[in-house]
Amino acid sequence: MKEKINKYIADISNIDIKSIDDYNNFTKTYLSKKGVINELFSSFKLLSPNEKKIVGKDLNILKNLASKKKDNFQFKSKSSNKHTNIDLSLPSSYDPIGSLHPLTIVQRLIIDVFLKVGFNISYGPEIEDDWHNFSALNMPENHPARDMQDTFFINLNPDTLLRTHTSSVQIRYMESNKPPIRIISPGRVYRKEDISARAHCLFHQIEGLYIEEGVSFIDLKQMINYFLQSLFGKKVKTRFRPSFFPFTEPSVEVDIYWGLETETDYKITKGTGWLEIMGCGMIDPNVLKNVNIDSKKYSGFAFGMGIERIAMLIYQIDDLRLFFENDINFLNQFKQKNY
Ligand code: PHE
Repeated sequence: MKEKINKYIADISNIDIKSIDDYNNFTKTYLSKKGVINELFSSFKLLSPNEKKIVGKDLNILKNLASKKKDNFQFKSKSSNKHTNIDLSLPSSYDPIGSLHPLTIVQRLIIDVFLKVGFNISYGPEIEDDWHNFSALNMPENHPARDMQDTFFINLNPDTLLRTHTSSVQIRYMESNKPPIRIISPGRVYRKEDISARAHCLFHQIEGLYIEEGVSFIDLKQMINYFLQSLFGKKVKTRFRPSFFPFTEPSVEVDIYWGLETETDYKITKGTGWLEIMGCGMIDPNVLKNVNIDSKKYSGFAFGMGIERIAMLIYQIDDLRLFFENDINFLNQFKQKNY
């Protein structure tokens, strides 16, 4: 019996279980009820105590060796045949691909700042009519202020055009809502402008509108300062410059200091070191009249800013065209910045 056992030990050591078939054959031959090892154990019971002593140890070695061989294969099959273990009923795992566009990231940053102080978001259409884009904003037909914004007209009668600014949403919102009003409105705008490092025929704005009893210019200035400090930090260098918009009175433009060291700084800031990022002002009473809001009772302010300009400042990008070219090397830089 001892010889038999040793022969099996040698046999098993040489066996290489490679497939499910090998595995089944192996367990059937050695480990099943009628297998070799069980039979040896049955015979073992009939031996005398002395004989048991001689073969007992080897029999155990044989048994352990066979079980180990079997287990090893099971273990291997689990990890290397991964695909056979896939549970197709499970929901798929989420592998994030791509990244957010820098303009989307910056737009969300800006929106967040205003949501914190009680503004709501309101969207308007990109294809507008003359009333919402111009006339209601105190820019009647033939008004010279319309020249400030070269327009893509789609149709002249009835008049449809691509909105030149998000201020059109101010009118739409005031037409259907009563004060108090506190909204921001992000979106695309279009102007017939030559494409350069500073300008594009398509860009993005965020409009803000706040109307309540007793709103003054101080509130406007505080709001803009709060916004700029939230976005650029407490040390941001800004300036308010008197300006003109037909729908606000008084009107100002807000600049941020960009720097004036390199040739690019000169190009971007037209040699001033400052970059204009928004227009704003107190709502002109004529605008309130156009939307049936009592200008004696209510006052308010509005602002409109270019998202590209702010993204240029945040990421120090010196050419606005990069935002629209979809160059994968450019976009990849924002992968970690998903927001
Ligand atoms: N609509 C103006 C522009 O596009 C910006 C602006 C908005 C100015 C609101 C004042 C108030 O230039």
